[in-house]
Amino acid sequence: MRNKVIITSALPYSNGEIHIGHISSTYLPADVTTRFLKQRGIEAYYICASDDFGTPILIKSEQENKNPRKYVEYWGKQHIDDFKSLDIEFDFFYSTSSKENEKFVQYVFTKLYDQGYIYKSKIIQFYCNKDKKFLPDRYVIGECPHCKANDQYSDLCEQCGRIPKKINNPKCSLCGEIPIKKETEHYFFKLSKFSSKLSTWLKTNTKLQVDVKKYVQNWIKNGLIDWDITRDITWGIPIPITNSEQVFYGWFDNHLAYISSSIKFLDKKGVDGRKFWNSADIYHFIGKDIIYHHYLFLPAIRLGINEEYKLPDYIPTRGHLKLHNKKLSKSRNWYISIKQFLDDYPSDYLRFYLTLITQYSQDDLNFNWEEFATVINSELIGNIGNFIHRVLKLTNNKYHGKTPTPTRFDDDDNETIHKIKQISKKLEMVMMQNNLDKGLKCILQISAWLNQYFQHKEPWKSESNSDSCVFISLNAIANISIMLYPFLPTTAKIIWKQLNISESVKEKYNKMDIISPGHDIKKPFPLFTKIEKKQIEKNISQIKSN
Ligand code: MF3
Ligand code: ZN
Repeated sequence: MRNKVIITSALPYSNGEIHIGHISSTYLPADVTTRFLKQRGIEAYYICASDDFGTPILIKSEQENKNPRKYVEYWGKQHIDDFKSLDIEFDFFYSTSSKENEKFVQYVFTKLYDQGYIYKSKIIQFYCNKDKKFLPDRYVIGECPHCKANDQYSDLCEQCGRIPKKINNPKCSLCGEIPIKKETEHYFFKLSKFSSKLSTWLKTNTKLQVDVKKYVQNWIKNGLIDWDITRDITWGIPIPITNSEQVFYGWFDNHLAYISSSIKFLDKKGVDGRKFWNSADIYHFIGKDIIYHHYLFLPAIRLGINEEYKLPDYIPTRGHLKLHNKKLSKSRNWYISIKQFLDDYPSDYLRFYLTLITQYSQDDLNFNWEEFATVINSELIGNIGNFIHRVLKLTNNKYHGKTPTPTRFDDDDNETIHKIKQISKKLEMVMMQNNLDKGLKCILQISAWLNQYFQHKEPWKSESNSDSCVFISLNAIANISIMLYPFLPTTAKIIWKQLNISESVKEKYNKMDIISPGHDIKKPFPLFTKIEKKQIEKNISQIKSN
């Protein structure tokens, strides 16, 4: 592990609301990881940007009769608000349409061109006679030639994840007409030239996810095709060296904003951005629908500019979130918006549940309202909340809020201290392996142990020797709040306040004496509110109402 880290997460398209599916696969795991690493003294930065160009944006803004610039600014702001409300904290949030990215993209293109990785070629493009325009990418829908799924975009099949070379039964996505074919001239990137280099990189980088690597290798084996990076539209980064009206394909410019935004941020700090990038561990968090772009296009382009900026070390890839076992869909109202969730529950409830159900794998996961209530009520509240509140209440009642001086530790006490240390160690290990769900489960395990310990010691009884038990329990709470911080930052800060500790909870203390004898705690109040059955029934009826 290097002591510098740059973390990015897939850049959100500025064309609509972010939903909890994006949060679970990408933004939350990246945020938890960044907080975890920072807490351990690693210089980690979480960088993101709005994905402003490309046909998905243009189509939506045209449909709503908006100027694309205004349109992306509007959605960029919405996204920032949503992220903030979930405690997803970026060190820097920029955009693919920034001046810096435009310059960088043009620089990369020129460099690739000089190295002979770019060529021009005449192609036949779909053209809609009714709309009087070329129809790249999402402007055309049809049947995927690989898996035969219907209504897929011509640039990405959402069913099988592949990028079709030629879509069947094409239709104009604006008006539904069958498009005609017209000649145009485009630039191509020689992706095929990179097959063996990409394959070697996949083989030698042992940090990449094994299951994902396997099928990316298969794609390479089946042959990579050169990549059309030009579009006949006006919304995008202009292509240098020509005076054509064309722009770059959105997937040529967007991932380069990982780099250009990081450099901008580091420059502002007075740090040599390129040097930092190349001496850091680089993480790109993504959902499984954009594996092709991140495991092939993005590294090939970095290889093509002689690794001026190093390739990623980790590309943590997670599966799609379903809602009651059905695919999320905004048009069918089968989704949960972030604002809607936060009307009913605190953000930490979502962070807790999503982390627990999201594995470090491509397997899909399922959001279920009833399960959500059970997990929150029994694990977050019944386990963690219960332990903390019992201990604080007892300290307040029996000791007037003053931490007792431990006398001698008996076997139970020693075993408990040992247990906390042992499970904390495991937590460190699983977290470094990206298994965030397992990390959170370690904290639940510690808390479950402590509940039993406390119950068994019966420190509320007047005749019991409770001083050591309460002392240990208070310090265990401090440890729990430190461990919880990356997952539930707001809750951790509240616990910390109740404990009346002045240092920041971001600091990592791996010791049992954070709280000294005689230390005063604040008057405790319950941390959480139980979820009522009625409330959940309302949530279910909300999604089923359409
Ligand atoms: N906006 C893209 C999507 O939502 C993700 C872009 S990630 C980047 O699918 F790396 F390419 F920028
Ligand atoms: Zn049309």
